[in-house]
Amino acid sequence: MGKSKKEQQIICFCNNVPREVIENAIRNGAHTLNDIYDQTMAGVGPCGGSCRRKIAPFLEEFLSMGTFPSEEKKPVKN
Ligand code: FES
Repeated sequence: MGKSKKEQQIICFCNNVPREVIENAIRNGAHTLNDIYDQTMAGVGPCGGSCRRKIAPFLEEFLSMGTFPSEEKKPVKN
C-alpha cells in the first residue's frame, strides 16, 4: 500500500523491474549504469537492453540534481 503508480511503473519489461527498484539502487550507491544492471537486473534481459535508454536519465538526474523525475524538486541549498 501507499505506493504510487509511478513507483510501480515497470522500466525493464524483460526482468520486470519497476522504477522504484532502480531509484533505490541508485540511492544506495549504484552510480554507473553497470552498477544498476548488476544490482537490479534491469537492462540485461533477453531483449538486449532496450530499456537502458530509460534507465540512463534516472542516473543522470540523480547525479546532477540529487533527485529523480518522480520526486518534487527541492531547492538546492548553498
Ligand atoms: S526491457 Fe530491460 S533488458 Fe529488456
